[in-house]
Amino acid sequence: MLKNDQLDQWDRENFFHPSTHLAQHARGETPTRIVTGGKGVHIEDRDGNRLLDAFAGLYCVNVGYGRTEIADAIAEQAKELAYYHAYVGHGTEASIRLSKMILDRAPDNMSKVYFGLGGSDANETNVKLIWYYNNILGRPEKKKIISRWRGYHGSGLMTGSLTGLELFHKKFDLPLANVLHTEAPYYYRRPDLAMSEEDFSAHCAAALEAMIEREGADTIAAFIGEPVLGTGGIVPPPAGYWQAIQKVLKKHDILLVADEVVTGFGRLGSMFGSLHYDIEADLITIAKGLTSAYAPLSGSIVGKKMWEVLERGTDENGPIGHGWTYSAHPIGAAAGIANLELVDKLGLVKNSTETGGYLVNAMRDALGDHAHVGEVRGEGMLCAVEFVEDKDTRRFFDASKKIGPQMAAALLEQGVIGRAMPQGDILGFAPPLCLTREEADVVVDAAVTAAKTVFKG
Ligand SMILES: Cc1ncc(COP(=O)(O)O)c(C=O)c1O
Repeated sequence: MLKNDQLDQWDRENFFHPSTHLAQHARGETPTRIVTGGKGVHIEDRDGNRLLDAFAGLYCVNVGYGRTEIADAIAEQAKELAYYHAYVGHGTEASIRLSKMILDRAPDNMSKVYFGLGGSDANETNVKLIWYYNNILGRPEKKKIISRWRGYHGSGLMTGSLTGLELFHKKFDLPLANVLHTEAPYYYRRPDLAMSEEDFSAHCAAALEAMIEREGADTIAAFIGEPVLGTGGIVPPPAGYWQAIQKVLKKHDILLVADEVVTGFGRLGSMFGSLHYDIEADLITIAKGLTSAYAPLSGSIVGKKMWEVLERGTDENGPIGHGWTYSAHPIGAAAGIANLELVDKLGLVKNSTETGGYLVNAMRDALGDHAHVGEVRGEGMLCAVEFVEDKDTRRFFDASKKIGPQMAAALLEQGVIGRAMPQGDILGFAPPLCLTREEADVVVDAAVTAAKTVFKG
């Protein structure tokens, strides 16, 4: 294990951390954690703490830590051939085999996989493919992309724009032009408490349609959404939501991107969120669970309808002008193959339903009646607890109280990692898909103790 007592100082002097309060960190006001190892659902840090990681890193280490099968596959690939590019028809056995494995698992209308490195760049690829598609079809005006408030699609220029969270726009001059945000399918925050889930889904679809009509359907190219809102608060859709939305999109000839960076490969208890909710997407974004983060790899799965037009486009214009040096990197692909094999072998998709369902129910039983818990919700191996000042009126706590971060800190005191979601007082859980019931009990007990600490009872 690395032992260097200067690391903390070097960290503050040299390392630009993402999503971090830079000034506080540089001044040493926030703790650092130097992570040294992991096994199953636990990580260890340099100070000897062993923590149950109930957020699987950034909901990505789906098979859990320390899987030697994936480490060995990476090592073998690195020794045999660490790199070759994928331009102009080149490939490696790993990237070809992995594309087939993905398509074997994806909805039937999918056709090809383009590989990138992370979820953000995969969504940037999607936007370019959507624009290219409409140009080839002779519809140069049909370019705007509709996303949802509270959606998360990355933090690049276009993807940060598509993301519907204020923190990712503020002072960055985002969102860029051509991006619109419509209502979040956030049933708990419905404007009228009397609305049923179906009523609220119809309300969201009507708001979308009104936006399309206002802007002109001939200017709207695509709609992007996560099957379950993730970073925006872990919010499963209300009943009938995806059916109502798809009806509107079809009517106006608008493409649908299912951003499955979190939901792909089992997190909801189905191989894809699109299969879980009957979403017929034109593009599916994948990353995280594709390799369980053992190596960086993402993908855009392109549906048949778009693929035909892309082929036509290259007949008319020459090779597609898009690609990264590291597209389809063989080490990522080798990790992906070993990871998907493990997901199957360990029955992790089924475990998401079974143990994930157990976790959500146990959390609801333990905290649902708490005076400051507005809602406990979840789907598959995703769970969230939303805190409110007043339960009846769903009134928010004053943001300055930082209830979400306080809860995450109190949870950590119990040896469990959860995530204070960036907008609202929401404590999120997305454990590795190999979580056991005993480990789920540890998470719930820790959340109960944390609530007692924060709310003094
Ligand atoms: C739904 C979704 N899309 C895209 C991304 C961006 O992925 P990355 O951080 O790998 O760029 C994320 C990251 O959390 C995500 O949750």
